[in-house]
Amino acid sequence: MSIAEGKHIALVGATGAVGQEMLDCLEEREFPITELTLLASSRSAGKKISFRGNLIKVKELTHESFAGVDVALFSAGGDLSLEYAPSAAAAGAIVIDNSSAFRMDPDVPLVVPEINPAAAHDPAKGIIANPNCTTIITLMALYPLHKLYGLRSVIASSYQAVSGSGAQGIIELDDQIKVLGAGGEVTDDMKNVYPHQIASNVIPHVDSFTENGYTKEELKMLNESRKILDLPDLKVTCTCVRVPVHRSHSVSVTAEFEKAVDVTEARAVFSNYPGINAKDDPENSLYPVPLDTTKKDDCLVGRIRKDMVFNNALALWVVGDQVRKGAALNAVQIAELI
Ligand code: A2P
Repeated sequence: MSIAEGKHIALVGATGAVGQEMLDCLEEREFPITELTLLASSRSAGKKISFRGNLIKVKELTHESFAGVDVALFSAGGDLSLEYAPSAAAAGAIVIDNSSAFRMDPDVPLVVPEINPAAAHDPAKGIIANPNCTTIITLMALYPLHKLYGLRSVIASSYQAVSGSGAQGIIELDDQIKVLGAGGEVTDDMKNVYPHQIASNVIPHVDSFTENGYTKEELKMLNESRKILDLPDLKVTCTCVRVPVHRSHSVSVTAEFEKAVDVTEARAVFSNYPGINAKDDPENSLYPVPLDTTKKDDCLVGRIRKDMVFNNALALWVVGDQVRKGAALNAVQIAELI
């Protein structure tokens, strides 16, 4: 089926929250596509999804799904990426993988197009990894400051939307809100995605715990930031928290730099960088909130101030749409680079 001149794209996880957003991004950005193969589990096979006015049938993912595919976008979880991405690469496709499966593989580039686009060229294994959502959003704010002052360390707390848990996270929050709104109680059978009630609550637990007391999500912030920024000695400590917000993650950051910082200069630097803007006029209650960035491409930074504890340090607040810049948009931007 010919849609326009361009590439044959396969999308693994086409029925998921990020998969659907990838389709929106491909459509909005007029990505040149000759053929689109939509893949999901056998449960979704035969279902039709609309793309540029065409209804396209979802097919079941198999190892043979990738013949003739130029770019395979994967967003169906790490286990499926580990199993099927090598088949896609062996068939000649460039894989852009949204899971954490290959991110720390030294032969797999980890790319934020506004930060390290050159890393996407000629990937050794035919696989490019899309970074963790909280890491992308945080680095969108820190990279311009790093160029100005030289980043040394980061202390962060995240406020992560339920969209980070996929479609089921959004459904779980909505179901619990409905029950509470009707005067009922959230029962154990309504807690499937999160270990605690998420409506009217916050949960300091994103991904599983490791033996040093940090969660895997918190260690992604450390390890992925080091790899993307090519700063192997960067220090990062983070507490990742799930909040009852539908989409858009927020991150409170204290960042320490090599050089002396200036708040006015820091605020102004964002106007020179793509994908990030300052919204920072606290006296007029202007600072970014998750609803500001929902369904938007750009991240927003505000509350920029000199940190009172560390020298050469700024405190700030950055917000970005987790499904979009934190996942789907970043993956489509990588596809545009190759
Ligand atoms: P399906 O809808 O058929 O289950 P989310 O993270 O939003 O829940 O989305 C997960 C995505 O991964 C969905 O598109 C889902 O498809 C897909 N998926 C889950 N299990 C499989 C599988 N075994 N094979 C292929 N795709 C799968």
